[in-house]
This record gives sequence, structure tokens and C-alpha cells, in this order.
Amino acid sequence: MTDAATALFRSLNSPLIVATTASNGQTAGCVAGFHTQCSIDPVRYAVWLSKANHTYRVALFATHLAVHFLDVADHELAARFGGLSGDDVDKFAGIDWTPGPGGVPLIDGCPNRLILQRATLWDDGSDHLCIVGEPIDASVGSHELDPMRIIDADDIEPGHSAGARGTPDDLTSTRMGASVVDTMEDLAAGAGHAVDLPGGH
Ligand SMILES: Cc1cc2nc3c(=O)[nH]c(=O)nc-3n(C[C@H](O)[C@H](O)[C@H](O)COP(=O)(O)O)c2cc1C
Repeated sequence: MTDAATALFRSLNSPLIVATTASNGQTAGCVAGFHTQCSIDPVRYAVWLSKANHTYRVALFATHLAVHFLDVADHELAARFGGLSGDDVDKFAGIDWTPGPGGVPLIDGCPNRLILQRATLWDDGSDHLCIVGEPIDASVGSHELDPMRIIDADDIEPGHSAGARGTPDDLTSTRMGASVVDTMEDLAAGAGHAVDLPGGH
């Protein structure tokens, strides 16, 4: 990418979210700057997850995604979800959260949020996967949101660099589990397999 493009993107200073999800008994979540409303009628919201992330691997089999809009006061939460990886730690240990539809973790301390039911996945072969969802619930906090932005998180070193994509070895790690590997093999096999997502969607 050119320096000019990098400078343009940085000048946009995008607001940050924590995207959370759950599948196969695992919870996951990471900070994301790549997200936007992408349709008005019907309403759709899109989030791009790095293929390097634990959250990506859990989201592949999830029916729901929660989008928590971070406030500038949420730096500690941003450091937890953006600076650590679910490959190494349980990010939900020690914070209050409530399971939502499809088991998606809703972070109690982050009231400005959308719950998305997954509509489609888009993989163009780049290092991020796009998940497009239908908002089935939305809530706002009692205080007006002062969004945390990319520049506010300059001191947070991402838990995974975007270039470090997963490998087949990751899929056989104990965190993924055999059932996930079986499902991925079914997906890779294509025709002849009926693959039901958890929750029947
Ligand atoms: C400012 C900032 C923006 C980020 N934007 C994204 C993003 O849009 N998509 C993404 O998948 N990861 C993004 N990340 C990286 C993940 O949040 C980070 O690598 C995280 O530790 C991954 O955790 P996981 O392995 O548990 O999923 C961003 C991180 C930071 C600090």
C-alpha cells in the first residue's frame, strides 16, 4: 500500500468496536476498526475479521455477532480485546458479560451495541473476512457515546498481526477441538455434505 493511502486511512481515524461471538462452546472477541453499516433497507452491518485472529475462527461457525461501540473511556477494555488473543487467554474471565442469542457474549460494561444475526460471509482472498449481519437488537447507554478511535488506541499492540494467518496446525490445536476440524473438512469437501450451522441458520 502507498504511503498516501496509509495516511488517508489514518486521517479517517475510524471508531473502534469490540466484536464478540460464540460457537462450539467457545467465546471470542476482538477490537476492530473495520466495520460499517452497509445497507439501509434492509438494515445490514458489516465487520471484517482478520484471518489471524482466534475470533475469526470462532466466528466462522457462529450464528451471531455482537458489535460493542467503544467509548473513549473504555481503554482498558480495548487493551484486553485488542492486545491479547483468545489463543492464549480467556478474555471474558474477570469481566461481567451475559450470553445473548446464539450464546454471543454481551459485555455488560459496554451498553452501546448491536446484536447481528449472520446473513453472509465474504472472503475475497485477502487477510480479512467480511461478516454481514442483520441487526436483531440494539441498545444505547445512558451517557452519549464519545467514540474511541484508532488514534486513541495507538499504544495497543494487536494480539495478532494481520499478516499472521492461521495454519492447518491451528485447527488441530486443543482450543479448536475435533468437531470444528470435522466441520471444516466438510466445508472444504463441498458438495455431498449437508453442513448445518449451530442454531439452524
Ligand atoms: C486499533 C486496532 C484496530 C484493529 N482492527 C481490527 C479489525 O478491524 N479486525 C480484526 O480482525 N482485528 C483488528 N485488530 C486486531 C485484533 O483486535 C487483535 O489482534 C486481537 O488481539 C485479536 O484477538 P483474538 O486472537 O482473540 O481474536 C485491531 C487492533 C487494534 C489495536
